[in-house]
Amino acid sequence: MSNNRVSRRQFLGYTLTGVGGFMAAGMLMPMIRFAVDPVLQAGGTSDFVLTDQRVDDLTAEPVRVDFAFEQVDAWYTSEVTNSAWVFKEGDKIIALSPVCKHLGCTVNWAGDPEEPHQFFCPCHAGRYEKNGQNVAGTPPLGPLDEYETQVQDGFIAIGAPRANTLV
Ligand code: FES
Repeated sequence: MSNNRVSRRQFLGYTLTGVGGFMAAGMLMPMIRFAVDPVLQAGGTSDFVLTDQRVDDLTAEPVRVDFAFEQVDAWYTSEVTNSAWVFKEGDKIIALSPVCKHLGCTVNWAGDPEEPHQFFCPCHAGRYEKNGQNVAGTPPLGPLDEYETQVQDGFIAIGAPRANTLV
């Protein structure tokens, strides 16, 4: 007779541990999947948001173009509205972020009657050149961000903001 025999008590302990572990895994897996799944989902099909601004209507004068998109933040989806100052420089289309680089107010083109060819931030009188370069001596410490753009069927599509490439 071998000394390695499993007693009834040991067999019952192993069996209950195995079955209990299997049941616990069965309960935990759906919860873990629920918690992690949204984070693992692929993003949208396109990072560009189509606007209703026709390319042919653009001039060298910046115009404000509003756009909206759905933002998925893990489990929460919300509609975000945003805007860009868009104009043409030759054939090139330029879209600048309206977010002031001082404290985040919204800048306006020709918002200061004394400087009609600059962007103006009304919060603390910040000023930017048309290419987004901040004017020295005013509060902003950096140029306005620039959006990537695409033309889709004659309309402007706005992409992600990036550091200004014009200055
Ligand atoms: S937030 Fe624009 S100048 Fe201060």
